[in-house]
Amino acid sequence: MSGALPPTPEPAESTEEWAVLEAIAAADRLFDMRSALADRTRSERLVVDACGLRLDLTRQRLTVEALDTLIALARRQGVQERIEAMFAGERINVTEDRSVLHTALRLPPGERLVVEGTDIAADVHSELDRMAVFAREVRSGERTGHGGRRIRSIVNIGIGGSNLGPQMATAALRPFTHPDLEVRFVSNVDPADLDSALEGLDPSETMFIVCSKTFTTLETLTNARAAREWLVAGTGTESSVAAQMVAVSTAAKEVKEFGIDPHRSMFGFWDWVGGRYSVGSAVGLSLMVAIGPEQFREFLAGMHEIDSHLREAPPERNLAWLLALAWLWNGNLLGHDTVAVLPYAQDLQRFPAYLQQLDMESNGKRVRLDGERLEIESGPIVWGEPGTDGQHAFHQLLHQGTRIVPCDLIGFATSADGEDQDRQDLLVANLIAQAEALSIGRSEEEIVAAGGDPELAPHRACEGGRPVTVVLAERLDPRTLGKLIALYEHKVLIEGAIQGIDSFDQWGVELGKDLARRIGPEIEDGASSADHDPSTVELIEAVRRLRP
Ligand code: F6P
Repeated sequence: MSGALPPTPEPAESTEEWAVLEAIAAADRLFDMRSALADRTRSERLVVDACGLRLDLTRQRLTVEALDTLIALARRQGVQERIEAMFAGERINVTEDRSVLHTALRLPPGERLVVEGTDIAADVHSELDRMAVFAREVRSGERTGHGGRRIRSIVNIGIGGSNLGPQMATAALRPFTHPDLEVRFVSNVDPADLDSALEGLDPSETMFIVCSKTFTTLETLTNARAAREWLVAGTGTESSVAAQMVAVSTAAKEVKEFGIDPHRSMFGFWDWVGGRYSVGSAVGLSLMVAIGPEQFREFLAGMHEIDSHLREAPPERNLAWLLALAWLWNGNLLGHDTVAVLPYAQDLQRFPAYLQQLDMESNGKRVRLDGERLEIESGPIVWGEPGTDGQHAFHQLLHQGTRIVPCDLIGFATSADGEDQDRQDLLVANLIAQAEALSIGRSEEEIVAAGGDPELAPHRACEGGRPVTVVLAERLDPRTLGKLIALYEHKVLIEGAIQGIDSFDQWGVELGKDLARRIGPEIEDGASSADHDPSTVELIEAVRRLRP
């Protein structure tokens, strides 16, 4: 770490606003959802229509007083200043001494952003232009495999941020993808992942994108080597590697060492783009090939729209501020440990997994910026599945379980291709039904009054009162997806800023990587090092006994 640390805000829990919030939260059992929902003044504060998104927080257990106090807390903690510091390229990732500039990836063409003497917006656009040339050539068939055959399959090899973003977005934008190009994703070092991705593919028609910011990630390099062997064996020539393997990375030296020419076949990005914030960079190359450069620009434009809204809208009408404050209220004041993100769109099936990395790798921290222990809970456990499937699996617990799980329901009024509106209406009807059922519920009295068996009434009753957020948009298209991603990115930033943590490092993942690097050879040659605990030594030996 070098340079002076920006001031760490005082612990949120020491502020006078926190004391007020705790007092309001202590009276939460008196909160009556029905009367809260009937209160128009409150509803006006808790619904925001902006940038084509409708954010409805009316079903949160939030009073106007709580909301105002949360906003005051966020102001006191310097959220606005931190946002501006991020956009200006200040090194707000203090433990890695880096700027955090994913917002620069989506600046419109022609805008300048000079950071530490370099116009990084110009660099961004020149790389986007190179990507667009590549994507067009692959899509049109102009860029072929080594033997002159058309490329029909793209396999992206990467993990974490080098996988989840493009994989999630390619699935989400399925109706916009090229009909004759299949894009597959490999992340796990489990051989089953690469094997199943390669199933049915013709090596002469397959292009690999090896995507790794550092180009040192064990899983990615192991899979990339295995892919190269498959390619060379299948095409019968080493020269297919130059024609059919490209790299996306910030590490030209490592790319060259792997055997990919960084000048010809590498797309770059910069250390100021965090892995989990990188889908708008060259990491999105597979997505750009799938949907085309024009739609990719739309995707970036959607993100930029939210970036501008974040800076311009007052906190009271600001989508990201309000979403962040609702999550903070539930997690830190009402004590709910998890959040379920439930997209009512099958194509958003990977969105919860994407948010898991975005949120949990960013805000799962135990110390504050100054290294002092965080005395309140850090970010929540994020999970979820698309509706309506979840309704027939885990929603039982959401409605009647003793644990309260706040839910974000995300839905769209029309289908992406504008067809089959009846089925889309049914899907959205389910989203609204869940919002109502979770928040209002059905009492024993209502069940009996409707002729239900009084003995069964306690089993059937749903007490309601579950915190629900609804995010609604017209349809799931590239621009809207970009908006959703940017909205949640900024939510993470704001929550982390209030808590005073570094949302942009991820030191916690290192220990497991170090140990795995040691244990791998120990499994192979049986020489367990003495400094493992006895149980670990036993486990390594048990694996050795079981392997062939
Ligand atoms: O292990 C965590 C992590 O560092 C993520 O933050 C990152 O997105 C992922 O690994 C992949 O890293 P890379 O792109 O350098 O291969």
